[in-house]
Amino acid sequence: MKRILITGASGFIGSFMVENALSKGYEVYAGIRKTSSKQYLKDKKIKFIEFNFADNNNLKKIFSNFKKQNIHFNYIIHNAGITKANNKQDYFTINYQYTKNLIDALISTNSIPDKFIYMSSLAAYGPVQKGKNLIELTDNPCPVTSYGESKLKAEKYITAQNNFPHIIIRPIGVYGPREKDFYLYFKIIKNHLQPLIGFSKPKVSFIYVKDLVKIIFTALESDVTNKAYLVSDGIISNSVMLGDAIKKQLNKKTVKIRIPIGLLKITAFFLEPIFGLFGKTPTVNFEKINELKSSWVCDIKPLEQDFNFKADYNLNKGIYETTQWYKKEKWL
Ligand SMILES: NC(=O)c1ccc[n+]([C@@H]2O[C@H](COP(=O)([O-])OP(=O)(O)OC[C@H]3O[C@@H](n4cnc5c(N)ncnc54)[C@H](OP(=O)(O)O)[C@@H]3O)[C@@H](O)[C@H]2O)c1
Repeated sequence: MKRILITGASGFIGSFMVENALSKGYEVYAGIRKTSSKQYLKDKKIKFIEFNFADNNNLKKIFSNFKKQNIHFNYIIHNAGITKANNKQDYFTINYQYTKNLIDALISTNSIPDKFIYMSSLAAYGPVQKGKNLIELTDNPCPVTSYGESKLKAEKYITAQNNFPHIIIRPIGVYGPREKDFYLYFKIIKNHLQPLIGFSKPKVSFIYVKDLVKIIFTALESDVTNKAYLVSDGIISNSVMLGDAIKKQLNKKTVKIRIPIGLLKITAFFLEPIFGLFGKTPTVNFEKINELKSSWVCDIKPLEQDFNFKADYNLNKGIYETTQWYKKEKWL
């Protein structure tokens, strides 16, 4: 039986990875922290490891103890990370420094897995560049947010290691059950409003969480190593199409309102410090606004060629399943 460790297991994407790994018969170790919720980690077969990624000694101790017991992780998916923060430094501490600490601990305790998957983000590459139609692997990465910069820095640390078999996954916006940012858009649409950002109509793709997890496990189980992939469903959409798909599932009529970028920035200007008082970051924040005004569509040919990838979910099917879940859980 293959043994897998998934960090950030308590989160949206991590919890789906855990479920998938269990269904494939893996021995699953969920990497969490003391304060993490186990709401989606109820299966009795899950083994838990509490990490403090800030503490190098704690990390080394954990992996040395496993080594002593002859427990080797075939696979590690390092998925823990933050997508929102009140200050730039937090992105670099959690997304870069903690990734570095984990890798250093694995190397120093001679615990390198057969394959290490790093959950980066398309933000590490930045949006479609001027004069281009798609984000491609051959582009020079050009992140427009601190989030993207922190992911890129972590990627660079991984690729600089010798004999460290890895795959880097760079997903576009991920949606699905349990997700809390797209969810706000569902709630607004339920109230008959369909806000659209700015006056242009940037092209975007998305990826349904189960398609993302499918790619990750195919990559994990393949012979491919030391490669990076841009990940989306390969379908070119836009925010109007997203809103329309949600509205159809909710069976609501909406009023479309165009919100100027300047107004969003003013909103973020007020919201960020207020949320900051409670240690939180609003969905409308300066980093997000930087991303929202650009086009985000990427070349997924390498995924198709290496893994025969074809998305099982288009926007309508994914939004349908997500809506059903939000309704069942009384989120909507
Ligand atoms: N969602 C997207 O659209 C998207 C797109 C591209 C890439 N990604 C990447 O995918 C990964 C998972 O994202 P998600 O959307 O599932 O986010 P999420 O629901 O917020 O989950 C994040 C996970 O990381 C853990 N984590 C956060 N800070 C940590 C820390 N300081 N120490 C240890 N663990 C920590 C969280 O633990 P707690 O439960 O204890 O907070 C949680 O398990 C992230 O690396 C993110 O950058 C996400």
